[in-house]
Amino acid sequence: MSSEKIVFPDGFLWGTATSSYQIEGAWQVDGKGESIWDRFAHTQGKIKNGDTGDVANDHYHRWPQDIALMQDLGLQAYRFSIAWPRILPAGRGQINQAGLDFYSRLVDGLLEANIRPFVTLYHWDLPQALQDEGGWAARSTAEAFVEYADVVSRYLGDRVQNWITHNEPWVVAYVAHAFGEHAPGMRDFATAVTTSHHVLLSHGWAVPVIRQNSPEAQVGITLNLSPSVAASPSAADYQVMRYHDGFFNRWFLDPLYGRHYPADMVAAYQAQGYLPNGLDFVRNGDLEAIAVHTDFLGINYYSRSINRDEVAADNLPPTVVKRDDVTEMGWEVYAPALFDLLSRLHFDYQPPKLYITENGCSYSDGPDGNGRIADTRRLKYLRDHFTQAHKAIQNGVPLDGYFVWSLMDNFEWAHGFSQRFGIVWVDYETQERLPKDSALWYKDVIAHNGF
Ligand code: FCB
Repeated sequence: MSSEKIVFPDGFLWGTATSSYQIEGAWQVDGKGESIWDRFAHTQGKIKNGDTGDVANDHYHRWPQDIALMQDLGLQAYRFSIAWPRILPAGRGQINQAGLDFYSRLVDGLLEANIRPFVTLYHWDLPQALQDEGGWAARSTAEAFVEYADVVSRYLGDRVQNWITHNEPWVVAYVAHAFGEHAPGMRDFATAVTTSHHVLLSHGWAVPVIRQNSPEAQVGITLNLSPSVAASPSAADYQVMRYHDGFFNRWFLDPLYGRHYPADMVAAYQAQGYLPNGLDFVRNGDLEAIAVHTDFLGINYYSRSINRDEVAADNLPPTVVKRDDVTEMGWEVYAPALFDLLSRLHFDYQPPKLYITENGCSYSDGPDGNGRIADTRRLKYLRDHFTQAHKAIQNGVPLDGYFVWSLMDNFEWAHGFSQRFGIVWVDYETQERLPKDSALWYKDVIAHNGF
């Protein structure tokens, strides 16, 4: 461990993140409509151990205690998401006031505790009624999203100053529509590509509406980004690396920053049959809408991607290999890639401001006999990633805040409760919350704005 002292710039914002379906529970309470995640989790065989988010962390009822917990840790900001079907149970039309009131109380509670709310509008729990009309594969869902964004920002826009339209459009498009692992569980690549466009379009359309309702607000979008490296300097590995970067990163970054969908990827998707009707889903004006000015880019970073062409006969031996150091998700621990990612975003795309809206790791370390949770590996993971973020700031990257995923252990999608990302332990039997060592260390980091 280096003894170098790391101090972040004044005003750097320290927070944690969660999402509605992963923590709220209360899936059928106070007029909430069914979401695609309710439906998916209730379908046998979709989630590990048959887990569901029906109760999850019962945050819907325990939010005052969760705010107290955050206050205790000295957190300055909290990123959470709104469950669309609590607000518009059928996706559009009839507003459910009880749903708005829940988030209004939560926002007021956070502000009273001096914790800045960062609201994500879409973290994957689409109203099932909209899925029944085609979901994100249908352009009309992008229109419904604007209506939803309007209702929420009109109601909370006086108090919420930080808005994130979408969480991880790549996951929405591909994990949910091509790989079948997330709701609604489709396996069709062409649909996934169409979906990616409708999600981006809904972002572009919603931003001006949010600005109108919340004139002081900062508005952005969160992407999951993964720096791509080639396993060897061979041409074959570089091709794979370029494809991965296009698929994962550039397909989303390029249109958001006014560069259209990347031509090499359009050609590649066309060759693979993923664009049976070309880019017919892109209509006049769509790309201008998607390139709307945003105040910040949110980055969810977990790991890098090492790209290897396993079949090229004349490939070179790899010079970059995955380390043995992986989390319980199997994701490689490699903090320097966070510096590379932040630098690349700053120098290639120039977002006015960046936030790390998620970073964290899954380790299941639990309480010992004395109730202490020595999650040493998480503490080290966070310290190493904070160090890289600091280095990027020193290099001129306008990074303004950091949200650790997650405030507490929660429902990790298809993995159910088997993966624990929290800095706070949750006993799902008793709903007890117990700060892990990483949380206590984080509290200290926040108090000193460094370590
Ligand atoms: C991200 C999601 C978040 C959580 C983490 C581990 O992709 O945004 O909800 O599941 O991964």
